[in-house]
Amino acid sequence: MKKYLIFTFIALGVMLLSSLHYFNGGDPILPATPYSYEIDLLPDHLDSTNYGVTSDTILSFVDDRIATLGRVLFYDELLSATEDISCGTCHLQQFSFADSLTFSHGVNSSTARNSLQLNDLGWSNQTTFFWDMKISSPTPLLDTLLASAIKLPLTDPNEIGVSDVNVMIQKMNSTTYYPGLFSDAFGSPTITEPLITEALSNFISSMVTFDSKFDQSSTLGSSVTLTTQEANGKLLFETDCQICHADGSNFFTDGGPTHAPLPVYDNGMERDSSDLGAGEWLPGFEYQYKIPTLRNIEVTGPYMHDGRFTTLEEVINHYSDSVIVASQWIISPGFGYTQTEKDELVAFLKTLTSPNLLTHDKWSDPFPGLSTDLDDQDASTLTVNVFPNPSSEVATIQFKNERRQMTYLKVFSTNGQLMAHRSTHKSAIRITVTDYPAGTYMVKLSQEDQEITKQLVVVH
Ligand code: HEC
Ligand code: HEC
Repeated sequence: MKKYLIFTFIALGVMLLSSLHYFNGGDPILPATPYSYEIDLLPDHLDSTNYGVTSDTILSFVDDRIATLGRVLFYDELLSATEDISCGTCHLQQFSFADSLTFSHGVNSSTARNSLQLNDLGWSNQTTFFWDMKISSPTPLLDTLLASAIKLPLTDPNEIGVSDVNVMIQKMNSTTYYPGLFSDAFGSPTITEPLITEALSNFISSMVTFDSKFDQSSTLGSSVTLTTQEANGKLLFETDCQICHADGSNFFTDGGPTHAPLPVYDNGMERDSSDLGAGEWLPGFEYQYKIPTLRNIEVTGPYMHDGRFTTLEEVINHYSDSVIVASQWIISPGFGYTQTEKDELVAFLKTLTSPNLLTHDKWSDPFPGLSTDLDDQDASTLTVNVFPNPSSEVATIQFKNERRQMTYLKVFSTNGQLMAHRSTHKSAIRITVTDYPAGTYMVKLSQEDQEITKQLVVVH
């Protein structure tokens, strides 16, 4: 009997150790020669918009090796307090680094606002970040500013949740890959917080959309042209929208309604007093939010700070027919578009999509993920393994995902309460169940058109 007990303890120990083992399932896989992240020049048609950005003042600081380090940091779950979440959990490449959920699911609970896309942050917005523009500065010094914007998610208890940066650095020092990556990037293996944020800023700044149809058609001598429908939509956009959404970007101080000190605005939507936007910290700016870039807007839904609109058609319906709070720039009840005009605007917005940013490996997750040991099954059938089960702290949900499909996980209590909601293209998700009341839960996993449900028992 005693022997059995000892054996059980050893087995449990091994299971626990392996489940606590660094979750990304191995070292990042990187190309021998770094990908090219450097951007030579701002395209001419943007350089000449005279919105204060030129090739010299913006992207020139992006460095291939520093951005490569930034890529690893961006996707590394080891950095987070619970070691199960990374920037890439809420900022997904195929959605232009936004999230497809209304609110993202953080370490403890849902985020308060819809996740923001990260494309074109390096050049289209040099002064302010976040929906309420919490991070702003009178001097548009891009690298330091984006770096301060990054410090926020790193330390936010519900995002990466690092309460002590030194603990994170210690963990990084004990990996096989960070000292070498820091040497490559900065000439020394020493890891410091400013270098971490610099690397992340480099990676994020490289996320540009200059290969969109809109950009190609704007390039002198290009054979790419907009269809009549798209071109009509562009004219409507220039008349009604560009004043705020300048050139499909969000640079707002020149050519738009100057609204010092912040480039935020109220676009006339029904108000919800639980979120005052910039008014949360700056009196007089109630219900005003960041004007987000419309580049890649096709893939970043749901839309607005609270994700209230699911489709671009709904957004256009708002601007056309449902403007509640009128302003100099948008008059109530809206621009009153015909159906044809609505379709034209949507068609134009879709020309702002960059296929490259959404698919190129250089912006993808470099971690291999846990390999699945479920090989006895047919590769196309979704199979799932929940362990340890029962669980008291962290449960791992491991599943087949050879083709790195987007897989969604929901955990429900027996009375139907949604406890957790995650998405990944890896082959496992870890959830912390420490705060769950003891009992039985349903783990529901969906991948493409397949769905599978397993029981998870929580004990304390
Ligand atoms: C739990 C989900 C979550 C995680 C993890 C997360 N973010 Fe975010 N991020 C958000 C949400 C939600 C917003 C919009 C919040 C707001 O503005 O109030 C946002 C906004 C941002 C912005 C501002 C974008 C803009 O247009 O102003 C930046 C930059 C950013 N995140 C970078 C990062 C980085 C870098 C990491 C990793 C260190 C990270 N985020 C981790 C959810 C997350
Ligand atoms: C007066 C300034 C202003 C004008 C004019 C304006 N917008 Fe906006 N737009 C905003 C602001 C501010 C937001 C963010 C509002 C929020 O989240 O609460 C926004 C958000 C959006 C979004 C959602 C972005 C996201 O990432 O969720 C889309 C799409 C959009 N606008 C399209 C348009 C179109 C198309 C027009 C013209 C028909 C237009 N806008 C005119 C200020 C403006």
